[in-house]
Amino acid sequence: MLILMENRFIDRDVISINDFNRDDFLALFKCAEMMRDHEKSENRHLFSGRLKRRRLAELFYEPSTRTRTSFNTAITELGGCSDGFSGIEGTSVVKQESIRDTILMYNANHFDVLVMRHPLDGSVQWAADVSDVPVINGGDGMNEHPTQAMLDAFTLHILNDNRLDGIRVGLGGDLMHGRTIRSLSQALALFDNVSIFWAADDFFKMPGDLERLLINRGVKVERLDTPEDVLENCGFYYMTRPQTERIVGKSAQEVRELLQRYRITPERLERFKGKILHPLPINSQLAEIDNLVYYMGCQGFLEQAENGIFVRKALLYLMMPEEGYTLFRGVLNPEINRSNNRIFREVNEGGRKDGNGEKIVRNIEDGLVLDHLKPASAEEIARELMLVEGGYSCITASVAGGGEGKAKSFLKTNLHGLSERELKRIALISGEPTVNLIRNGGVAEKFVYLLCGNDNCVTRVVKEDVPGKFYYDGEIRCGYCRRPYAPENRKISGGELNRYAGSLPRRG
Ligand code: CP
Repeated sequence: MLILMENRFIDRDVISINDFNRDDFLALFKCAEMMRDHEKSENRHLFSGRLKRRRLAELFYEPSTRTRTSFNTAITELGGCSDGFSGIEGTSVVKQESIRDTILMYNANHFDVLVMRHPLDGSVQWAADVSDVPVINGGDGMNEHPTQAMLDAFTLHILNDNRLDGIRVGLGGDLMHGRTIRSLSQALALFDNVSIFWAADDFFKMPGDLERLLINRGVKVERLDTPEDVLENCGFYYMTRPQTERIVGKSAQEVRELLQRYRITPERLERFKGKILHPLPINSQLAEIDNLVYYMGCQGFLEQAENGIFVRKALLYLMMPEEGYTLFRGVLNPEINRSNNRIFREVNEGGRKDGNGEKIVRNIEDGLVLDHLKPASAEEIARELMLVEGGYSCITASVAGGGEGKAKSFLKTNLHGLSERELKRIALISGEPTVNLIRNGGVAEKFVYLLCGNDNCVTRVVKEDVPGKFYYDGEIRCGYCRRPYAPENRKISGGELNRYAGSLPRRG
């Protein structure tokens, strides 16, 4: 039986590859190898009672064959069982139940661990925040798929003589919209002298933030012209399918044409001595990998898929203690709901000396003035807030420098405060507003409300009620999708951003 000096997986969420280090990976590989060796030996039932009576919930808001089934196999082979849903039909999600409420119901039903796949970036981090028991990310939007990266890295480790230092990996297919590439390349970045080569059409290219992050972490990243160039430079080629479910603005035919130049075909592999990997599924219609490649010696993706079972068994084995259950508490810690997405501004004496705002604030004793709204958006916001006629006024004014596009809107109302939901709605309509709370004719409080700029982030979906949270790791990042924050509101100064960054929790 494997004895670990320190098991860093116990009771831990698995949300992002960035929460794990090199030693975590090596410990996981060791345990997965043990699972694989036992599975293939006479002794294959050695661990079959390890997670007896443990229950895994599979919450798949999006389709899956491998991830869901291999978690199912993993828990069953360890003596536990699973339940949950595969697609939202038949669940109360169709009745607009929020992620939080669904998670709490699985807590209330005494599950010991949850694995979740969801189309929104950062949704699984939110699930983990509200859950009493550990949550595993089975894929969140275009963001991450950490257990896929773990099994991919495990496969590369085995195929590369048990080392990832110095590995040279090629990436192809859809680097832009795929989450497996984001997770795998960050996992490889934990090792030394890693080189990543890639070739893809501009539409599918590696996202700039990911490329920057990899380079900052010491990975050599090189874009090459053709798959042949990549195959010449590496021992492993990791192909991915076009993420058609996340691609907007391109027809299937256009996607097919863009992909055509980069397909993996037997002709391209004539001189290749390494292995072709793929997280699967392969899109058999667009065929990013030619059917004939299945029958070639360089095909490595079927072994890779089976490794998913060993890695997920290892993960569940390491995450769950042999004894001890988490009891349902039925209460939520208010800290979970505490946002930190406001940049507070100093209020000038008398509260009336704020450029254009000075004129706007005048003549209101108590209420709100929303500033820095997009031109002509104030009326829409008034409708959204269901303000009654006469209870508000909308003003569009030119700002210093004047000219077209330099106008902005204000909304002035007798409302006394805005909820998080209302502020989010405003920010979605009109960009990040500056909110002035007016008391006794002066500005009593003034802040800019920040919103994650990633359109697919869970924090942007009003009905989910996810508090806006940011953290700092050298950059300001969204606490859920972890994308770097880029201010929409040009009125935020560099100094203000620096001070704000200094007030945020640290990570990394
Ligand atoms: N690789 C992977 O995540 O496959 P599924 O979508 O079938 O789970």
